[in-house]
Amino acid sequence: MALPQIPHDFVWGASTSAYQIEGAVAEDGRGPSIWDTRCRMKGGVGDGTTGDVACDHYHRYPEDIALMKEMGVSAYRFSVAWPRLLPRGRGAINQAGLDFYDRLIDRLLEAGIEPWLTLYHWDLPQALDDLGGWTSRDAAGWFADYACLAARRYGDRVKRWITFNEFSVFTLFGYAINWAAPGVTDRVSHLRAIHHVNLAHGAGVDVLRGLVPGASIGAIHNRQIVLPEGGKPENQAAADLLNEHWNLAFPDPQLLGHYPPQIARAIEPYVQAGDMARICRPIDWFGLNHYGPIFARADADTTWGFTWGETPEDAPTYGVGWPVFPDMFRDELLAISRRYRMPIYVTENGCGGDDQPDAAGQVNDEHRINFFKVYTDAMGEAMRAGADVRGYFVWCLLDNFEWGSGLSQRFGLVHVDYQTQKRTPKASARWYAELIRSVRRSSAPAA
Ligand code: FCB
Repeated sequence: MALPQIPHDFVWGASTSAYQIEGAVAEDGRGPSIWDTRCRMKGGVGDGTTGDVACDHYHRYPEDIALMKEMGVSAYRFSVAWPRLLPRGRGAINQAGLDFYDRLIDRLLEAGIEPWLTLYHWDLPQALDDLGGWTSRDAAGWFADYACLAARRYGDRVKRWITFNEFSVFTLFGYAINWAAPGVTDRVSHLRAIHHVNLAHGAGVDVLRGLVPGASIGAIHNRQIVLPEGGKPENQAAADLLNEHWNLAFPDPQLLGHYPPQIARAIEPYVQAGDMARICRPIDWFGLNHYGPIFARADADTTWGFTWGETPEDAPTYGVGWPVFPDMFRDELLAISRRYRMPIYVTENGCGGDDQPDAAGQVNDEHRINFFKVYTDAMGEAMRAGADVRGYFVWCLLDNFEWGSGLSQRFGLVHVDYQTQKRTPKASARWYAELIRSVRRSSAPAA
């Protein structure tokens, strides 16, 4: 294992999100979210499954926490379902929803696992989408009120706060491409959503700073190198624009105070005086979700003239076929360090597959272990070269509802049988536990 000089307080964690694992979508007063709606739309989810039950984590969270404790993870990143706290997105509060996260947080703390709370992992209350969702400028205020409720309730025990998960994925896929809820394909809606989500982030940071003593606040960005499909010059402009949307549209305004050039020109009509200062609020760290690189292709029939291109045939892939380029992970960590100059937590990294138990009931996900080996090695290289990486969270603790791919893509360290809800730690869970143990042993401070 090439992870030299990992500090003793390096965070080894596991990530999940509410809609992907909780289930219990109509229980204890939870309101519908835009993903409940999408799951009921024809073609909304490839395999026709839903998050109605998912991993039933709403009822089985004690077992899931026990699994994490056994693995030795020191932190758990989960998200709060906004429609559980505020079934209509604003107004009436759902006490039972608030109580659920109290129980979860208390149990984590008892197990010695630090809660890392994401406020928004894509499950906007449907009632707010009916009012325009993120295309409405009011959305920043709705989000701030929701953040206020969560901060007041959990801020005594939770110190690690994340405003949003992967801003550009849910705005691009939800408002320009129709790969995610709410499934709009319109430039103006997309531009408005980008700007309002940025405003909501800034408002959320102010709320958290004001209400949570000692808060450590971050935002999570997906960053992946964008390359022109086939290395062809005719795809270069598509790659450049996709790069702005995918990698820069959120961290640049939030951390540098300006939009990248092409988006800046297009978004101007929706930006009001003082907005950039409202968006660019000091935060404590950069959350990076990273998978493989993306290949872009020019396509005049799409909202922005770009689409996802083919991965080169000779590219190495694992599991569900996503490309594996650990050097690009190292390069991203270094690029983020140089551009934003702040501590980084890797808040998601992992790979999917169709893992199933063998005759002996074991799940031997060698491909995932290989993936984690090469990616954690690449992280080690970035750290040696100067990137200030403070923690690493695998995606995902459990197999779960993988958005548009439904239940068919499994990303977990722990296998979930969706018929029986039986949990089976995979070989990768044992590998991760051993990694954590060995790094802790070698980095333990001298007695
Ligand atoms: C990320 C999402 C996460 C999961 C992984 C595979 O884009 O944040 O919820 O779907 O991809």
